[in-house]
Amino acid sequence: MHRLDVVLPAGTYAVEIASGLLDSLGQRLRPLHRQAWAVIADATVAALYGPRLLASLDQAGLPCRLLTFPDGEAHKTLATVETLSGQLLEFGLARDGGIVALGGGLVGDVAGLAAALYMRGVPYVQVPTTLLAMIDASVGGKTAVNLGEVKNCIGRFHQPAHVCIDPEVLQTLPPGEFASGLGELAKYAMLDKAFYEWVEHEISGEIISPDPPCAVPVATGSQPGQTRGPGGSAPWSGPWSGPCLSAAIAHCVGIKAGVVTRDELESGERMLLNYGHTFGHGLETVLRFSRPHGWCVAQGMRLAAVLAVRLGLCDVSLPTRQDALLKRLGLLEPFPSIPASALLAAMQTDKKKHAGGLTFVLPRAIGVLEVVRNVPDVDVLQAITLLQL
Ligand SMILES: NC(=O)c1ccc[n+]([C@@H]2O[C@H](COP(=O)([O-])OP(=O)(O)OC[C@H]3O[C@@H](n4cnc5c(N)ncnc54)[C@H](O)[C@@H]3O)[C@@H](O)[C@H]2O)c1
Ligand SMILES: [Zn+2]
Repeated sequence: MHRLDVVLPAGTYAVEIASGLLDSLGQRLRPLHRQAWAVIADATVAALYGPRLLASLDQAGLPCRLLTFPDGEAHKTLATVETLSGQLLEFGLARDGGIVALGGGLVGDVAGLAAALYMRGVPYVQVPTTLLAMIDASVGGKTAVNLGEVKNCIGRFHQPAHVCIDPEVLQTLPPGEFASGLGELAKYAMLDKAFYEWVEHEISGEIISPDPPCAVPVATGSQPGQTRGPGGSAPWSGPWSGPCLSAAIAHCVGIKAGVVTRDELESGERMLLNYGHTFGHGLETVLRFSRPHGWCVAQGMRLAAVLAVRLGLCDVSLPTRQDALLKRLGLLEPFPSIPASALLAAMQTDKKKHAGGLTFVLPRAIGVLEVVRNVPDVDVLQAITLLQL
């Protein structure tokens, strides 16, 4: 079992990572002393894991109900939050109740926002079921829904009360969604050189090396995230075996926990976690969400690296080295042929825009990223064009 704490002024919450945790969720929720729990999931995850979760809560004597909404970004809206809130009311959930977000990053965002708003806020617990949500979205308290084509336009910071990660559920995750999580993992690798080198060495071809042995470097400078541990022990048949996968998840969570502890509201260091995301969110919009979030982030990282070279921030070898990592993770494909101007226009609706030009997180080296403001449109257009050559 890996366990680490996210330490914040308003309180500390634990992130637990181990195979089989899903079945003991009820026991883990008891110390939170809520009178009832609503479990929110999308239709796919509800069918796969809803009954197991309800059985676990039942066994622990916790009144609960499963609420669902359809899969997909099109349903990441205030209308869904409103519908769910009506169902929470009908269930009778009061301020002494709690919400479980069971699913990928999308469910975490929607259920988290419902938890932030319902009755002026009730506690919620994240039970992420995609690799992306395990290593990124479930920790840090960002909740949001989209407004029209603007991603995550309406939201709040609302920290979970607990995060429970059971990597076994990844066995049912479609390969494309697993690859999407690897995109976010590549982002963490670019934040931490030691982890980058570990990922670079543990991966051969398209298959990620089996376990054991597996030693993950401790996240640099993220004290709450120090997570060396024995890893999970249950059998694992996915592309990553149990201990190695659990260790990699724990490492990414460790980096994120450290960053969130130091900059909860994203006024500084936390912005670095948006590496690849300004371009990535633009791509998601232009491609009408036809490719998963992490895939778009990976392509956004490629654009960011080319842009950094163009602005003289990093060596020309950096995009090539980053591409090699993305290739090993199965994320390197010919860049989609979209008009550069369409991608720029999509990014100009991004929340991170400031007067004078777009803001990007750009690399100076592997493990060294920085926020660069007011980047001229002409350089952005040139970077997009260069990647399409
Ligand atoms: N709040 C944050 O900090 C944060 C960070 C990153 C991304 N996000 C958001 O997360 C969303 C993307 O999340 P995602 O990539 O996890 O995708 P997702 O939540 O949309 O899930 C993708 C698909 O996989 C299915 N699925 C989930 N778990 C499964 C499992 N174990 N087995 C089988 N199918 C499963 C879902 O039903 C869905 O159809 C985006 O909306 C993005 O904006 C939020
Ligand atoms: Zn992301």
